[in-house]
Amino acid sequence: FLALVSCTLYWCHTCQAYHVTAWSKKYKVFRIFASSEENVQLIHDLGHTYNLDPWRDVYRANQTGDFLVRPNYVDDVIHKLTENRIDHEIIIHDAESFLHENTRSQRFPRDVTETFEQRYRSKYLTYPEILRFLQYVNTSSNVNIQVGSIGKSFEGRDMPFIKIQSNDSWPGKRTIFIDAGVHSREWISPAMAVEIIHRLALNTENDRAVNKLLEMFDWLIVPLVNPDGYVQTFSKGLEGRMWRKNRNKRYSTNPLCYGVDLNRNFGFQWNNSPEHGGSSNPCSGTFSGPRSFSEPETLNMGRLLLSNKDHIAGYISFHSFGQFFLYPWGFSSDVNIEDEPDLHHVASAFVDRMKRKDYIYNLGGSAKTLYPAAGGSDDYVRGVVGVKYAYTVELPPHENSRYGFLLPEKEVKSVVSDTWEGLKSFAFRLQQHT
Ligand code: ARG
Ligand code: ZN
Repeated sequence: FLALVSCTLYWCHTCQAYHVTAWSKKYKVFRIFASSEENVQLIHDLGHTYNLDPWRDVYRANQTGDFLVRPNYVDDVIHKLTENRIDHEIIIHDAESFLHENTRSQRFPRDVTETFEQRYRSKYLTYPEILRFLQYVNTSSNVNIQVGSIGKSFEGRDMPFIKIQSNDSWPGKRTIFIDAGVHSREWISPAMAVEIIHRLALNTENDRAVNKLLEMFDWLIVPLVNPDGYVQTFSKGLEGRMWRKNRNKRYSTNPLCYGVDLNRNFGFQWNNSPEHGGSSNPCSGTFSGPRSFSEPETLNMGRLLLSNKDHIAGYISFHSFGQFFLYPWGFSSDVNIEDEPDLHHVASAFVDRMKRKDYIYNLGGSAKTLYPAAGGSDDYVRGVVGVKYAYTVELPPHENSRYGFLLPEKEVKSVVSDTWEGLKSFAFRLQQHT
């Protein structure tokens, strides 16, 4: 009987045919409900034993988590969850087919009638495409543009930046600093950065607000903090697509264990509390590195931030997914930020605007709202660089969506243009309060 229910006929979109699958031999995503502290502990232990990849983790009782389970462990995980009476459901039965069905659409290189915008807008761009996009912006924008590299990644790739200013700007003007692509599998994040650059520097929709936005602020944008990881996510298969960390090979000889979680590696309160949320195990997806700023990517970012320290008015780091707007502190849930009402107020301009577009965002302190995690860029920007308004934004989809990191490319256009509206409201509100 068991053998019967674990084999199913399913319609495969990519192959346009029915397939018989042994369901248990596929990558699956489990939605698991932790009803108690014991459940949380048990789920973490399972994570360890069966090498689960948390898409959203559980941290306290009554939370729901989603976990990617590798084919060999599916049966064991089902067994353990059932044995311990932990509520669970499988939300993706075959994550590899799910990936292929929702993957980046095919590009046809020889279509010469295609405009630059048609080719580059609202897409998941590759690393070389992002560089080309920046070069294009550099040569075709009517406003002041500076494109360059903030330094090299572990594997020697340039980490591009772009500065966008009105033509009458001046040195030291107040700046909004934006970064994206810290975690490489969160593809909507660099896509958002590309949209912001497009809107500000090209303004092909003649948005009247853009002049004001450039009058109010200079914009300094690092669209891809983790280029090595990003390149890895374009390699074949699900394991490649799911890469999160950088690609440092110094801490393990096992390729599955390469890399440091860059958002656990910034130097503020680094691993300085029992619940710091990073791991000391190189194989973990949240490995925080041997010491803070051990990685070239975080070091380059830290330097750039410090050298702009006196004029950054606001900082946003774009991540996905879940629809959260988070402010410090991330390192501990016991410490409140003293001017929480101010940070909350400025952020609510975004959250309220997004709500009118039917995106429900959760707004709050990072450790309390999501989970404690030390070594994040937002904490560093607030705690060391001294920028009052420092945020991390978890872009769509919503935490309850099944898509997680695999938001289909056809959704990019609406997500980034809707989020642009939220960002405008944020910038105008920030202007009133700084
Ligand atoms: N999802 C992000 C991460 O895990 C959240 C970071 C929030 N900021 C923080 N300092 N914990 O990196
Ligand atoms: Zn992230």
